[in-house]
Amino acid sequence: MEFDFENRILDPEEIPEDFDVENPLRPRLLAEYIGQDKVKGNLSIFIKAAQIRNEPLDHVLLYGPPGLGKTTLAAIIANEMSVGFRITSGPAIEKPGDLAAILTNLNEGDVLFIDEIHRLQRTVEEILYPAMEDFSIDIITGKGQMATSYHLPLPKFTLVGATTRAGQLSAPLRDRFGVVLRLEMYTPEELTKIIMRSAKILNINIDKDGALELASRSRGTPRIANRLLKRVRDFALVKSEGEINFVTAKKALDKLEIDELGLDSNDRRMLKAMIEFYNGGPVGIETLASAIGEEAVTIEDVYEPYLMQIGFISRTPRGRIVNKAAYLHLGLKPIE
Ligand code: ADE
Repeated sequence: MEFDFENRILDPEEIPEDFDVENPLRPRLLAEYIGQDKVKGNLSIFIKAAQIRNEPLDHVLLYGPPGLGKTTLAAIIANEMSVGFRITSGPAIEKPGDLAAILTNLNEGDVLFIDEIHRLQRTVEEILYPAMEDFSIDIITGKGQMATSYHLPLPKFTLVGATTRAGQLSAPLRDRFGVVLRLEMYTPEELTKIIMRSAKILNINIDKDGALELASRSRGTPRIANRLLKRVRDFALVKSEGEINFVTAKKALDKLEIDELGLDSNDRRMLKAMIEFYNGGPVGIETLASAIGEEAVTIEDVYEPYLMQIGFISRTPRGRIVNKAAYLHLGLKPIE
């Protein structure tokens, strides 16, 4: 069953900016989803078991760096369970009443996806606890002696929460998820498969070596891989009759200033600032953020995960430090 996106989505304004419902590259079924084998394996068991019991799937928390496919997986869960998919995000729910409206409008079995769930306000979170646990909410109307409370049963639903950082979730909220899944960065081989699949859907002519070159510069992230594929396609179209191979991919990526490890000018700027201004650290995240004019959360969510994964920076109790490998990569002499 395909989603009826027109009618299922609660409010188009609540769709996160990067969620392109028309995006033909998003896989719709677990079988089409490449990589994350452990997550997929477990999820398919939980989905089948819920179907056998004829119950909604338990609430699912997906966590990991941006661009790894949390929203895609949430949509797949709804599709595999043949239920509706409703999507919103932590910052979009401003007050308890907003969440109450969303919950009371759900259909039986629906998947409610809350992106950036760590950014829910405390008062909103408190509505979510009984909703998740007992499928009910308590609504109070009026004030003082006139106050009346209503106990409202809700349809049974599955909450899928996504966050870049599970550690930022309050313990009571985290404990209410029956299934907690961590998404990992993808290997270059997995990203090569994703790029070949995307190229086929977009009618792009690319060979395996070209795809591998793109994959190895995509920082373990399908969103970046798909973005680079589209940009490199432009170069290939103008410079080499549309064919992407190792040579054209390499040339285009060099022009885009994406280096062999996938670092872009922002990553290099941050590493250089750490080295030049702070002797390679330790430097506190807020200090670093103001030095390079970025938000601390952008550094933590976007730049750091990959730089840590490849061992270029480490976190210490006194702040971030640059490791030897990063100096060598930048052609600088490490401090002994
Ligand atoms: N496109 C983006 N992420 C994907 C994935 N994990 N599998 C297949 N196609 C994708």
